[in-house]
Amino acid sequence: MQNQKVLVLDFGGQYNQLIARRIREQHVYCDLLPSDMSIQKIKEYDPIGIVFTGGPNSVYDEGSPMVDSGIFSLGIPILGICYGCQMMAHLLGGSVEKAENSEYGKADIEYLPSPLFSAMPKKAVGWMSHTDRITALPEGFKKMASSPDCPYAAFGDEKRKLYGVQFHPEVQHTENGAMILRNFVYDICGAAGDWTMSGFVASKVEELREKIGKRKVLCAMSGGVDSAVAATLLHKAVGGALTCVFVDHGLLRKYEADEVMSVFKDKMGMNLIKVDDGPVFLEKLKGVTDPEKKRKIIGEQFIRSFEKVSKKIGAVDFLVQGTIYPDVIESGKGKSAVIKSHHNVGGLPSVIDFKEIIEPLRDLFKDEVRAVGFELGLPKTVVMRQPFPGPGLGIRIMGEVTEEKLETLRDSDYILREEIARAGLDESIWQYFTVITSSKTVGVQGDFRTYENVVAIRAVTSLDAMTADWARIPYDVLQTISNRIVNEVKHVNRIVYDITSKPPATIEWE
Ligand code: XMP
Repeated sequence: MQNQKVLVLDFGGQYNQLIARRIREQHVYCDLLPSDMSIQKIKEYDPIGIVFTGGPNSVYDEGSPMVDSGIFSLGIPILGICYGCQMMAHLLGGSVEKAENSEYGKADIEYLPSPLFSAMPKKAVGWMSHTDRITALPEGFKKMASSPDCPYAAFGDEKRKLYGVQFHPEVQHTENGAMILRNFVYDICGAAGDWTMSGFVASKVEELREKIGKRKVLCAMSGGVDSAVAATLLHKAVGGALTCVFVDHGLLRKYEADEVMSVFKDKMGMNLIKVDDGPVFLEKLKGVTDPEKKRKIIGEQFIRSFEKVSKKIGAVDFLVQGTIYPDVIESGKGKSAVIKSHHNVGGLPSVIDFKEIIEPLRDLFKDEVRAVGFELGLPKTVVMRQPFPGPGLGIRIMGEVTEEKLETLRDSDYILREEIARAGLDESIWQYFTVITSSKTVGVQGDFRTYENVVAIRAVTSLDAMTADWARIPYDVLQTISNRIVNEVKHVNRIVYDITSKPPATIEWE
């Protein structure tokens, strides 16, 4: 584990994970932990600096989360953000009041000289989102910035290294926000900048090697980024002690199963077993049209397919899970992660004879997992792969799943992906795929009437898949996609574009 750590105490604000990510982008390790952490635990954690996040409460509300005031005497630099800065002012004897006008959105901030704002312009835009505001500073503090609606947009006590900002340096709309966090962690906390992905790989490989030795490890590979990176790390650490199992349920996208085999088995020399159970899944899905039934059948068969090989492999010491840091934060607010609810692997522990779960990526955010993937030499197609649901194409074909529809879906989806990449949109769109609707419509091709499938294009922008907006793909790109699909793919004569956000729709159609 890292020597230097910043502790981000979570008061429940919407940008909390973002604060932690932004600090790590400065090459400084940090953890986001619950705000009720005791002083004793904080001392044991031994951070070089502490950040209080924003949160939905008002310091005057009963039961609002508060730190133990002893934290201000630990001699550790602290940065309070939004609610965090109000709480700091409140606990140290300043006053916080409900403002007449809530301040929400961009505000012009005037910065005064301060170590927090060194090398910054005197005026810049900051992102505000608050109703309460500080009206009097605690003793020893001085004003460090203001905005039209906020007399103390920032303040601090340089001697005690305590600082507060009412705006959000972690959001992109705050100009120079990254610089503020950088000033805090480097100039005020004295960080050395030792958190790098190459450093992570080196120390994790060493740690895994020591822990595992020659004992047996089993990993379920889905082709997704997390399991791919986890498996590659383990392969680097323990080589032949690792066995990976890849269940091909026949519901993957075009060329995807081949790519998994070529990258991991052929190029990297992993001990990778592929279970080719596509026909078994199709048989089970025969005549089934209800989305939930389809999901259940696919999930259950996945476990059965895995069970077949795991029986042959026999008992193992470790089972690998691709848990990443946001899962850890969400599933236990810092406590140990429950096994991912992702239905495809959720049931695996029940059919595998193993002693311990191993989660090599549990300290990493998704962008860090990707950086580790590149560090390990994985290709862009694997590392930048868009999220893909466990039940695969099975939930992108409305109604019964058949081999013919799967082929139509794979071919149309492949064209969409090619054209999105050609237009340079592949990194700005969160997910993009085609769907076979359950509708057939009349068309005319050559001189003939056709009666064929309607294919829908689904493309969304999103930050975390919890909410999403439909992507504004330029008309000319849509035109090329549409022309190519109806001309090159069999059994399609109409293309529609899904223009619904989530909510009320979901990203997937089923
Ligand atoms: P929805 O359709 O609920 O999807 O808006 C949100 C995100 O989750 C993915 N998704 C799944 N991922 N197993 C998964 O691993 C599933 O059963 C599943 N269903 C949806 C979806 O692709 C999107 O990224």
